[in-house]
Amino acid sequence: MPIITCIEDLRQLHKKNTPKAFYDYVDSGSYTEGTYRANSTDLAALKLRQRVGVNMENRSTESVMLGQKVKMPVALAPVGLTGMQWADGEILAARAAEKFGVPFTLPTMSICSIEDVAAATTQPFWFQLYVMRDRDFVRRLIARAKAAQCSALMLTLDLQIIGQRHKDLKNGMTVPLKIMLSNLLNLATKPAWGLRMLGAKRKVFGNIAGHVKGADGLVALSQWISTQFDPTLNWHDVEWIKKEWGGKLILKGILDVEDAKIAAATGADAIVVSNHGGRQLDGALSSIKALPPIVEAVGDKIEVWMDGGIRSGQDLLKAIALGAKGTLIGRAFNFGLGAMGEAGVTKALDIIHKEFDTSMALCGVKSVAEIGRRVVL
Ligand code: GLV
Repeated sequence: MPIITCIEDLRQLHKKNTPKAFYDYVDSGSYTEGTYRANSTDLAALKLRQRVGVNMENRSTESVMLGQKVKMPVALAPVGLTGMQWADGEILAARAAEKFGVPFTLPTMSICSIEDVAAATTQPFWFQLYVMRDRDFVRRLIARAKAAQCSALMLTLDLQIIGQRHKDLKNGMTVPLKIMLSNLLNLATKPAWGLRMLGAKRKVFGNIAGHVKGADGLVALSQWISTQFDPTLNWHDVEWIKKEWGGKLILKGILDVEDAKIAAATGADAIVVSNHGGRQLDGALSSIKALPPIVEAVGDKIEVWMDGGIRSGQDLLKAIALGAKGTLIGRAFNFGLGAMGEAGVTKALDIIHKEFDTSMALCGVKSVAEIGRRVVL
């Protein structure tokens, strides 16, 4: 087993272990991937401010997201098809998150279902909702998330239509799915992945299979999905969903100050400044650049979080320094999962936590509350 010291090590192992189509699905952005890259490069361009002569004993990385104590200001982002990176991936990631002390978000497009994850965990998790044309399905999904005692609903606002990811088309990872010879040949080179998948609890979209009439097989399911993302989704629907859910609500996919103001006025509890990991509007601003004006405009009215490009504790520190009260990591934990299953998710969290703690100390701050603009140059 190679020595793992950083998220990049996990990424390389994930890539080696996993069928190309699934690995590429995670590690790609839309079109030129310009925004996808900018999420990381704009974080890298920010410089931290080293301070010395500060007693750094008794530091804490603890914080609070949505009133919930977290070991560090990070939650696991909803990532579709996580259960295809490693058998039962959503269950494993949820378990790793709860043991570590950060929230897990189960996506609508997961392989393991809401009920599977609820049965395998002891702490409430969050549920991410895509609004589908079939509103009855949406209503039932919300009811299922309530029944499973999910403690927050995360509504994704930036995917009414899907930005094209070239690699997905080339790999046949489209809705509806294409079975391609090159995929089958590649699959044959990943026997351990295949063996684990044979024993997996689920192999298709667990929240949808069995809940939509006549759409149970992978192809039928993906055909249903391809017609279902609702292009009419608008702020009135947000009101409806808020009422239907009745609990804590997170609005994800905000990149503009005007939208942030509208989002804050809905009475939601948090917003996620996000460009969907650079997977939607190519050419949009990186999340770290979009963050400060949004914090300035609505930071006193609603919790502002961000995601996009966080691959280290240093990145996390920069996001918090620019005003995020919390962050989501998506690829970073999927790389861990695809590398080593549950232990890999724990490893990813450990890596980011240690880097965050060390970098805080070297910047002369001892608590998350102390992190502010003065930490970056
Ligand atoms: C869906 O959320 C995707 O980014 O593929």
